[in-house]
Amino acid sequence: MAKQFDLVVIGAGPGGYIAAIRAAQLGMSVACVDAWSGADGKAAPGGTCTNVGCIPSKALLQSSEHYEQAGHHFAEHGIEVKGLGLKLDTLLGRKDTVVKQNNQGILYLFKKNKVSFFHGTAAFNAKVDAGWSIQVEGPNAEELIAKNVVVATGSTARQLADVPFDEDKILSNDGALRLGSVPKKLGVIGAGVIGLELGSVWRRLGAEVNVLEGAADFLSAVDRDVAKEALKEFTKQGLAIQTNVKVGEIKSTAKGVSVEYVDAEGKEQKLDVDRLIVSIGRVPNTASLGADTVGLKLDERGFVAVDDDCRTNLPGVWAVGDVVRGPMLAHKAEEEGVAVAERIAGQQPHVNFDTVPWVIYTSPEIAWVGKTEQQLKKDGRDYRSGSFPFMANGRARALGNTAGFVKVLADAKTDEVLGVHIVGPTASELIAEAVVIMEFRGAAEDIARICHAHPTLSEAMKEAALAVDKRALNF
Ligand code: FAD
Ligand code: NAI
Repeated sequence: MAKQFDLVVIGAGPGGYIAAIRAAQLGMSVACVDAWSGADGKAAPGGTCTNVGCIPSKALLQSSEHYEQAGHHFAEHGIEVKGLGLKLDTLLGRKDTVVKQNNQGILYLFKKNKVSFFHGTAAFNAKVDAGWSIQVEGPNAEELIAKNVVVATGSTARQLADVPFDEDKILSNDGALRLGSVPKKLGVIGAGVIGLELGSVWRRLGAEVNVLEGAADFLSAVDRDVAKEALKEFTKQGLAIQTNVKVGEIKSTAKGVSVEYVDAEGKEQKLDVDRLIVSIGRVPNTASLGADTVGLKLDERGFVAVDDDCRTNLPGVWAVGDVVRGPMLAHKAEEEGVAVAERIAGQQPHVNFDTVPWVIYTSPEIAWVGKTEQQLKKDGRDYRSGSFPFMANGRARALGNTAGFVKVLADAKTDEVLGVHIVGPTASELIAEAVVIMEFRGAAEDIARICHAHPTLSEAMKEAALAVDKRALNF
């Protein structure tokens, strides 16, 4: 006998599991199906984010940053480290434990909220009188009937044509998070978010890292001043980044991987590395869904086609997160998941895509929200800009972490904050203030008049806002 639910969510990544919990809070009977298995073969809900994305990458970034600090920066604090060593097994084991804690946290939340969890792959069967028939294959094989369905099947790494991932030498984000030894030479194709974060991890642990980027501009979506400062810092740390290259043939050799490419000057080059990370973007997961069986419409790039409210072309079927248009970010997926659950319950929520923050967890961190200076110029918008360097911030000097700045962009007439761009220490945390101000359509003067604790890095935000009106106090 098929099991009947008000809502079946396919995928337990941040989009899916959050949608399931919110729907259960609103009184619906909810099932969530997820295919991911851990190394032990057991269910590992949390999707890409928990298993091979946000969480493990941040665990490795933290461990590798400690190693770098101990090896290169403790001495300036008068702390002598003798016999510094690296136990990669322990470091990776800690990361696995952090992942598992998150998997188990989600199973606990499902129990607490009475969400029925099914471990397996779900596919649409047919439209039935009571809604949609969904077949689950795998450990918890079952037919489910749902009045509403949320598709939250996420994304996977895009491979280069004819260069499949073997997760040994040619690595997606998955293999790049569990290398058995630190490669002497590591190649990275694509200087995007993954390339920079994971390239930084392995560089800090001792690899010589070469990053090949196809685009002419480094971090082309990022504010130019921020990208310039970040490139300067990464280069100083030893990440070798080349832009405007054309990657050619890639061959697995007995020793490693050889990459042929044409550099920015048009010269043919070859890069021999032990391992190669390919991080050139991601593709939506729709192959296992049975989209054709029920006529679920995909767009020209293979994403599930949705309107602004995440409605698909089928009645009662919604889609959220990486499998639909928009930035591939966990918090964007979560906001869509909450909004869809509330819409199904008859509420009228709103997701403001203009205030979705971006963070790159390198050192220095990069974070931004809203428009970049180049976008404002292109839009012909009259704006004022104020910047404040961490070099002039007392807390940053005490931390010994003075690279970077905060930049606030505001409308020239109304002073409304249009964008905030940070490169520097804890940028990931500092950006929250800018998101709040922009969500309330506040002005640069609002930030400037708010009392910020001293000495904190957040004072750099206040000073940058003051600088919009050319009245920074400490610079
Ligand atoms: P996913 O997290 O991909 O989850 C989809 C789930 O659906 C998976 O468990 C999958 O197995 C399951 N599934 C697929 N098909 C089926 C099916 N037919 N039946 C059942 N289950 C199915 N974003 C951030 O915001 N911050 C970060 O710091 C960050 N770091 C990242 C680091 C890396 C290395 C990577 C790769 C990504 C990172 N991201 C980060 C992006 C983030 O992981 C994604 O945006 C987010 O996971 C998308 O959530 P989702 O719920 O849409 O899909
Ligand atoms: P990305 O889109 O961030 O970067 C891909 C880079 O590869 C781009 O700079 C692009 O120009 C380049 N590229 C594409 N094809 C190429 C080719 N053939 N040769 C050389 N360069 C090429 O994608 P990435 O790093 O794979 O990450 C995927 C997504 O995952 C991100 O866009 C982001 O949404 C998410 N993510 C978010 C994180 C965060 O929020 N901190 C961390 C990691 C990933």
